[in-house]
Amino acid sequence: MKKIEAIVRVEKLDEIREALKEIGYPGMTITRVEGHGQQKGLIEQFRGREFKVELIPKIKIEVVASDVDADKIIKAITESAYTGNIGDGKIFVLPVEKAIRIRTGEMGDAAL
Ligand SMILES: Nc1ncnc2c1ncn2[C@@H]1O[C@H](COP(=O)(O)OP(=O)(O)OP(=O)(O)O)[C@@H](O)[C@H]1O
Ligand SMILES: [Mg+2]
Repeated sequence: MKKIEAIVRVEKLDEIREALKEIGYPGMTITRVEGHGQQKGLIEQFRGREFKVELIPKIKIEVVASDVDADKIIKAITESAYTGNIGDGKIFVLPVEKAIRIRTGEMGDAAL
């Protein structure tokens, strides 16, 4: 299993959810987050030197999926989150050791 953690533009959430609905996914967690990437959240520059560092609101989408489904989910998020401008976001993919559906005790892929 893999955890796909995507940090994306707030305004892209609906489009990304639509794209995921089309291909199917087991479940998701959405969190409102703040952060910055390589531009350090730079939103304004004054006289070439002075600048403001800001944390920019983003949405974090977490999906835990089976190994076989992970790539198509990553592709769907990548395509639907894309604008081509700085700040489009990032996807991190992590290995998942265990998953347990509390109601049934199912484990692994069956718990997703
Ligand atoms: N290395 C990182 N570790 C943790 N979170 C990150 C990292 N890089 C980016 N993020 C998160 O992703 C959000 C979007 O990052 P962003 O798309 O601006 O990355 P970037 O590296 O600056 O790429 P770009 O040049 O396209 O803007 C950030 O606001 C932050 O929340
Ligand atoms: Mg950036």
